[in-house]
Amino acid sequence: MKDITIGNGSVQYIGVDDLDIDLFEGQYELPDGMAYNSYLILDDKVAIMDGVDGRKAAEWEAKLYEKLGARTPDYIVVLHTEPDHSGSIARVMSTYPKCRCVCSTAASKFMQQFYPDLAFADRIDVVKEGDTLQLGSHTLRFFAAPMVHWPDVLMAYEESEKILFSADAFGKFGALSKTEDEDWACEARRYYTNICGKFGPQVQAVLKKLSVLEIAVICPLHGPILQENLGYYVGLYDTWSSYRPETEGVFIAFASLHGNTAAAAHYLEEKLEAKGVKIEIADLSRSDFAENIEGAFRYDRIVLAAPTYEGGLHPFMADFLHHLKSKGFCNRKVALIENCTWAPMAAKVMKAELEQMKDITLYERIVTIRSSVTAATREELDALVADLTA
Ligand code: FEO
Repeated sequence: MKDITIGNGSVQYIGVDDLDIDLFEGQYELPDGMAYNSYLILDDKVAIMDGVDGRKAAEWEAKLYEKLGARTPDYIVVLHTEPDHSGSIARVMSTYPKCRCVCSTAASKFMQQFYPDLAFADRIDVVKEGDTLQLGSHTLRFFAAPMVHWPDVLMAYEESEKILFSADAFGKFGALSKTEDEDWACEARRYYTNICGKFGPQVQAVLKKLSVLEIAVICPLHGPILQENLGYYVGLYDTWSSYRPETEGVFIAFASLHGNTAAAAHYLEEKLEAKGVKIEIADLSRSDFAENIEGAFRYDRIVLAAPTYEGGLHPFMADFLHHLKSKGFCNRKVALIENCTWAPMAAKVMKAELEQMKDITLYERIVTIRSSVTAATREELDALVADLTA
């Protein structure tokens, strides 16, 4: 992994890569592992900015001790208590009995819930929005960022070097050593929509608060340190958190029992592509559900195609809609294609689910396939292409 230099060098990177983990939060695939970022500020006082997952505590401690040299930490600042960041701090707090833990009220409570044997409860200093922590030439100013991604979250702005410690915000999936040359947006978008997607209003509130700050560096808890072109990242966060579509195009998500619904979806794909429309298509039974949530959030128009199954909806489409609803999916135009051999129900169930989401506009035309794609189906799909490109 390339050396990481942050600002003028007095903030040092002590994060670790986790290449052994398969699923983040037990659900999100990690083809390139995960980075748990942690930082050390060496000034008159020494502050550790967050820990890492307990799985990688020993590696983190080794990096920390090497960078500390003969110095001892005065503070561990816990911006977010989720165990991928707090899982390593107990041992360091016990190694340094004068070290104090700085966090929000909620973080103090959550740490004691996660670690019932916590031995440093009497060394927790609770801070809130507007409080500062003086380290010498460096000063941390705290901003409350509740629900980005948990209620405990704080961000910290280091005033002398204009560094924003942004907690989970601006993070992405992927270990740093495996993703150095990777485009940031792809895995950051999958991370954002799945981890913070539901909390758009809270992300908007924090972006508004931060907009008055001059920020030179963003140090998130996952993914690369952002030191250039920050307007690009902030702009994408503004788009995502306000639920505006990022890309003009159509995301087609289908589930199929015997290939006939898939055939209809691919017919639609070809016809739209022939008209120059940007398309992404996903077989919900054979693709990463989190990628598909990302796809639905990204595009301005969505097509859902699924068969009726056991008097209801194909379970992979039902699951997809459940996830979309739980992530706060809204403000999109959606077209429906259903398939049935008898007693069609799929479109009715999809419609009922979509009606529970905010600002979803359904195309009036619903294409109903009767078992297989016929000339009549193709005519209906051609008409749907016209609707989608009107
Ligand atoms: Fe990276 Fe919400 O924990």
